[in-house]
Amino acid sequence: MCGIVGYLGPKPALPVVVEGLKRLEYRGYDSAGVAVVRDGRLGVHKSAGRIHVLEQSLDLNAEEGHLAIAHTRWATHGAPNDVNAHPHIDASGRIALVHNGIIENYQALRKYLTQQGITLVSETDTECLVQMIGLRYRGDIEQAVREVLLDIDGTYGIAVICKDEPDVLVAARKGSPLIVGVGKDEFILASDASAILAHTSHVIYLSDGEIVRITPQGVRTTTLNALPVTKELEEIEWTLEQIELGGHEHYMAKEIFEQPEALRNCMRGRVDGKHGTVHLGGLAEHWRELTRARRIVLTGCGTAWHAALVGEYLFEELARVPTETEYASEFRYRNPIIEDGTVVVAISQSGETLDTYAALREAKQRGALSLGVVNVVGSTIARETDAGVYLHVGPEIGVASTKAFSGQVTVMAMIAAALGRRKHMSQPSMELFLSALSEVPDKMQRILEQADLCREVAQRFHERDNWLYLGRGYNYPVALEGALKLKEISYIHAEGLPAAEVKHGPLALIEEGMPVVFIAPNGFQYDKIVSNIMEVKSRGGHVIAVATEGNREIARLAEQVIYVPDIIDPLQPLLTVVPLQLIAFHAAVLRGCNVDKPRNLAKSVTVE
Ligand code: G6P
Repeated sequence: MCGIVGYLGPKPALPVVVEGLKRLEYRGYDSAGVAVVRDGRLGVHKSAGRIHVLEQSLDLNAEEGHLAIAHTRWATHGAPNDVNAHPHIDASGRIALVHNGIIENYQALRKYLTQQGITLVSETDTECLVQMIGLRYRGDIEQAVREVLLDIDGTYGIAVICKDEPDVLVAARKGSPLIVGVGKDEFILASDASAILAHTSHVIYLSDGEIVRITPQGVRTTTLNALPVTKELEEIEWTLEQIELGGHEHYMAKEIFEQPEALRNCMRGRVDGKHGTVHLGGLAEHWRELTRARRIVLTGCGTAWHAALVGEYLFEELARVPTETEYASEFRYRNPIIEDGTVVVAISQSGETLDTYAALREAKQRGALSLGVVNVVGSTIARETDAGVYLHVGPEIGVASTKAFSGQVTVMAMIAAALGRRKHMSQPSMELFLSALSEVPDKMQRILEQADLCREVAQRFHERDNWLYLGRGYNYPVALEGALKLKEISYIHAEGLPAAEVKHGPLALIEEGMPVVFIAPNGFQYDKIVSNIMEVKSRGGHVIAVATEGNREIARLAEQVIYVPDIIDPLQPLLTVVPLQLIAFHAAVLRGCNVDKPRNLAKSVTVE
């Protein structure tokens, strides 16, 4: 979604912020713009479409200013056109502002501004902000921003510059991330660490309700009420290399193929196979509360919600705690029951998804112990939870989530096992479980070696408009995830279902040759899924099965089989999801879709 970059320093600011915007492209956007202060002038350039369109309208070398802000916009209020693109400027033409988030009282502000004789030129909520700041400006941009923000309802991450103060970059946040990169004599502000990494790995994470004033002398952080806040300089653990393609054509392929390594990193120092123990530093102080938990609620959106569904099975089976999975967007608004002993776990790759964050806040307010299973270190959800476990799978850039899903499942498997062991699980059972978990990366690698087979499936069916994905037990969430991957990046309609449900309606969809993917590894529901395969097959469906190596029977039932190594039921999703990711990837490539930036979607959804 929307991205912010700002720069103040000795280098020409424009190339720096444009480069930063390119690093944020993966988040999804539909227009872009920059504003630069130079020789007492404010230059603003904006355009609908991709950053390279904006770049064509810029002379990067001509604009020598050292203070600039830039933005990629994902339209909410008003169409994605040049006028609605950010930065927006105030009526006097002095002040420029970029904004992520939504101003909820913008209608009232628009009315007020019109009464003051200000003509608003865009349809956005954002323009009200800059116009209000313009009205309050008396020579101190920070003060004007502060006064206006006290009247704002909604969420924001903003960066503001004023041509009369060429050495001041002001930023503030409430519900939308902002990070200040502190380099040698230079400062890079961004909504996402990937825009900062090329310059420095030293950062200050802003918290909600804080304003930052950046000048050549340094960074000063205060609350909205002007109370000073002491901030720590922190280190981003990701490297520039990790956010580059590394020889792959697509981030999604890179991220699918690096899953074995990502999971090794995720488990490193945590799974101790020798002693049959799990160490999760982030939860160290909470095991007492966790072992007493009466109910666990897992919440998230999209792929994270699918991982949570796997988690539900894991927590109930391994830890024997009643667990339910909730869409974050539903949970936050439905007056959820949080009793004593309820633990709420927010699952999120980015740690910035607004609905997940809001669900977490709701749970916290009602007294739940809140945990996070998050990938991005220092992200909003990671900072707001009482405790948590990072995925450590490295940056995920492709909009369609892959390695974060496997990381989320792995982390929940570790937590569930550690909790189970503290409650009822015997040491030998724990050792068996951890040894199976440790084998996952190598087994995944074997599946990745069959990528060509997945490509063949995609080759044969990428022109079909409807697919079904069916699974049972631990593989039911995998069916949902397989269907979501196909929808997201290839725009093929696909549905995922618990396999037994197919006869309660969806069977009516089956027609000759329709691709139906069964996730059917060996396990305690295998015989049941074979019956479901027969039901589909006898109605003309073309069965593609994901099955366990050595299973010859299934080759007689299914038209195509992709084999995965044998593994215990609870860990099957980590293997069975891989062929489905590959099928979706190849289908999208064959259909000529933009795999990493699918239409209409965003990597991190920071609006409701
Ligand atoms: C967006 C992304 C999905 C992701 C979901 C939740 O819709 O496109 O890939 O699963 O948000 O994101 P999160 O960062 O909270 O895991």
